[in-house]
Amino acid sequence: MQHAVLDRMDRVTDDVLSLVLRGAETPLAPWEPGAHIDLALPNWLTRQYSLCGDPAVQEHYRIAVRYDPLSRGGSEYVHLFLEQGRTLDISLPRNNFPLLPASHYLFIAGGIGITPILPMMRTATEAGAATTLLYVGRSPETMPFTETLRSTYGDRVRTVATRVDGRPDFRTLATELDPHALVYCCGPTSMMDQVESVFPADRVHIERFRPTARPTAPNTPFEVRCARTGDTVQVPEDMSMLDALKYAGHPLPSGCREGVCGSCELTVLTGTPDHRDDIGAPPARIYPCVSRSLSHHLVVDL
Ligand code: FES
Repeated sequence: MQHAVLDRMDRVTDDVLSLVLRGAETPLAPWEPGAHIDLALPNWLTRQYSLCGDPAVQEHYRIAVRYDPLSRGGSEYVHLFLEQGRTLDISLPRNNFPLLPASHYLFIAGGIGITPILPMMRTATEAGAATTLLYVGRSPETMPFTETLRSTYGDRVRTVATRVDGRPDFRTLATELDPHALVYCCGPTSMMDQVESVFPADRVHIERFRPTARPTAPNTPFEVRCARTGDTVQVPEDMSMLDALKYAGHPLPSGCREGVCGSCELTVLTGTPDHRDDIGAPPARIYPCVSRSLSHHLVVDL
């Protein structure tokens, strides 16, 4: 956990605010493109926001928050109640969307999904890679940072305002993709699903901030042994592993409780996890807010 002061708030479109945070007592931790932080709001909600500033600038973090009319209280609080100068608790940066080395990149951003893409575009371009950004939004005035992107990257940036231009043709883009290019995409679920379906699976990287609806096997009870403390915790079928561990005296950080942020990550030492997260946990990791166990017994590093 880090303490930060909200240094600046700037309106970048009618419904997007840019927030600059600086360390309250100590410098903020370094980060890499694709990283996000959990922001603990004074109304007891915790929300995840991608860092969208320059990773080389150590003094502050920058995030951008779009007002969501269907807000469950996060963006609404930021837009209506949060004030400059307020001290906030934020997590250390966590990166579930790392930028892998490549000579060519195609970045695809939809709406506020531009935020993790901004530092990626900067870092990849500065490293000498061939970069292209396709930035999609409803209309030009709803797309934050467009002018900065155009003035910095010129014709490497292509904007598509769907109300004017219609939807982009991802299928054609996929056929034209450079054989060495990696694709990074963040935006609305429908757009990411489409991108995932047309680009080669081993070259496309997606970051989701909402869980995907998909069928899962019925929950069954299982037990978790905590290797460090030696105690065994029963996980009933109607309880998450995260809650079972919490009630047994092992509270874990839990930013989203939806399998998208990564804050509850545990290392699995023995057993077969039933991965239900949207991060793409490697076999030896588990996100216990949503994931369960296929084996009756799971041993975790706790
Ligand atoms: S709390 Fe976010 S992944 Fe578990």
